[in-house]
Amino acid sequence: MKGVILAGGTGKRLRPLTRIINKHLLPVGPYPMIYWPIQKLREAGIDDILIITNQHDLGSFISLLGLGEELGVRLTYKIQPAAGGIAEALGIASTFVKGEKFVALLGDNIFQDSLVPYIQAFEQQSEGARILLKRVSDPHRFGIATLDLAHNRILDIMEKPKNPSSDYCVTGIYMYGPEVFEYIMLLEPSNRGEFEITDVNNLYIKTNSLQFDFLKGWWIDAGTPESLHQSNQFVFRDLCND
Ligand code: DAU
Repeated sequence: MKGVILAGGTGKRLRPLTRIINKHLLPVGPYPMIYWPIQKLREAGIDDILIITNQHDLGSFISLLGLGEELGVRLTYKIQPAAGGIAEALGIASTFVKGEKFVALLGDNIFQDSLVPYIQAFEQQSEGARILLKRVSDPHRFGIATLDLAHNRILDIMEKPKNPSSDYCVTGIYMYGPEVFEYIMLLEPSNRGEFEITDVNNLYIKTNSLQFDFLKGWWIDAGTPESLHQSNQFVFRDLCND
């Protein structure tokens, strides 16, 4: 299976830290942020990885990571011309994944769990997509799932709801089949002018083909000063032991 890491966007909530440095190159523990999603994929046996970023920052990623030899992976790069949304960025991966199932990670998601059991479950899935959920204390910041726990189903996902229906956040750890690129082609820009990954996941819900698991360990979207700080604390405490 191949992996895709999204590392574009604007990093607006982290300005001025991100005025001249791409968010995914900021320090998290002893490494730049982008090392962590790469490491999670490699630990799960995924060493063929596409990094999608913007034109301006591409050179910095290549200078830092090269072709990935030092990290034990094979890296490919593609450019997202403008930050038009997570789904738009993902669409750029279609020629790389070449009709296979794949794992996509948001490059600012730092988490404790190994991806292995979730990817194994996805491999056994005959069709569709699989996402990972985590309960959060600030649901208005995220994609939030309404669940039918009795039937183990997601009924709906809302992006950054003003009145959240639950505290089950859709994390930026996504597993898709190649049909995702057809779904992306169907999207219209949202109110904030982005092609939303939440709209993609809602299309999977409509066809009854979105499965999910709950992440067990901690999970952080390191996209704000507070959460970036917290990710540093958790990484030094739990992920730097070897
Ligand atoms: O972290 C989980 C959340 O991530 C989900 O719960 C939300 O449903 C999802 O929309 C996303 O929300 P954020 O507001 O945190 O997304 P953000 O704009 O920060 O982008 C997340 C990552 O995707 C970040 O690492 C940069 C990358 N990205 C983002 C955009 C908008 C791109 O590569 N290209 C883009 O155009």
